Amino acid sequence: MYICLCHGFTDGDVRGAISHGCKSVAAVYRHLADRPQCGKCVPDVRCMLHEHREAQHGAAALIPAGAMAVMEGAD
Ligand code: FES
Repeated sequence: MYICLCHGFTDGDVRGAISHGCKSVAAVYRHLADRPQCGKCVPDVRCMLHEHREAQHGAAALIPAGAMAVMEGAD
């Protein structure tokens, strides 16, 4: 699905930018298109970043504390 009609990037492009480490709306635009033009897509990009953060926190909450210690190399 197209997210930005001005630059022609899709939700997959935004997810790709996020998976490359973009943590802010500005970082996503720098990665994909330099800067927004009309800005109508900014709320959608912001929402996708929020959903990514929520998914990360949700996944971490499902890992038992003992398993986290093993994963981090602690006793
Ligand atoms: S729709 Fe993305 S800048 Fe216009």
